[in-house]
Amino acid sequence: MSGRRRRVPCVGVADLTRPPLDGAAGAGLPGDVGTGESEVAMSGQHVAYWDAQAASYDRVTAWAERRLLADARAWVGARAHGRTLDVGVGTGANLPHLVGHADSLVGVDQSAAMLDLARRRARSLGADVELVQGDAAALPWPDASFDTVVCTFSLCCVDDEVAVLRELARVVRPDGAVLLADHVESSAGVIRAGQRVLEAVERRHGERFRRRPLVRLSEAGLAALEHEASRYRLVERVAARRERRKRRD
Ligand SMILES: C[S@@+](CC[C@H](N)C(=O)[O-])C[C@H]1O[C@@H](n2cnc3c(N)ncnc32)[C@H](O)[C@@H]1O
Repeated sequence: MSGRRRRVPCVGVADLTRPPLDGAAGAGLPGDVGTGESEVAMSGQHVAYWDAQAASYDRVTAWAERRLLADARAWVGARAHGRTLDVGVGTGANLPHLVGHADSLVGVDQSAAMLDLARRRARSLGADVELVQGDAAALPWPDASFDTVVCTFSLCCVDDEVAVLRELARVVRPDGAVLLADHVESSAGVIRAGQRVLEAVERRHGERFRRRPLVRLSEAGLAALEHEASRYRLVERVAARRERRKRRD
């Protein structure tokens, strides 16, 4: 093993509380893991960065997964129903929580390497999941296509979070649910200071540590139904729906 430290991708809120893990071989997923850059060019979306993170992503985030992320995934999964889209599906970490709640599952991600891992996870769950390569800011589905739209730990790394929130609002049915979970600007000053530093360092990969989707919902025509946060507001979960148009009489 080399002595070099490996950066933790943005979902690694573990960054805030412990040092990054040392780099090593990936998660041990031979065969169907993409190794090169995605063939679909999505300018400004840091595709190559996420392709490169894919093989080690689950191992690098395992610590945070156990302590912070799994609860948020279970919260989201319990609120999913019907035809469900997972935007920025990554390695498919939400899939075990969505199976059994959603009637059918679709995942979209810009990274072919991430999608390969999500495909493998779906197979291991015996779940039929349609996995599509695409841009969260320009989703390839018509308006009102899904009963539930999920986006976890991905709004922190898209170029324009409001543009993506608008897409989530567009593809969800009028009475459907938009379910979000992300690491957000902490309520604790000392953690916020750390987040400012991390953001300055990681910005070149498009990673943000001080966003808070809850406060941007209305810009995308969404309204919160429920929201909860972990201690120090490290991770916030939001259930939202499309704002109802006011009738003009
Ligand atoms: C931090 S990972 C989170 C993955 C997964 N949602 C989870 O909860 O573990 C962020 C994912 O978002 C994807 N992503 C980032 N920007 C995107 C975009 N504009 N369109 C589609 N996927 C994007 C990345 O490729 C990566 O797989």
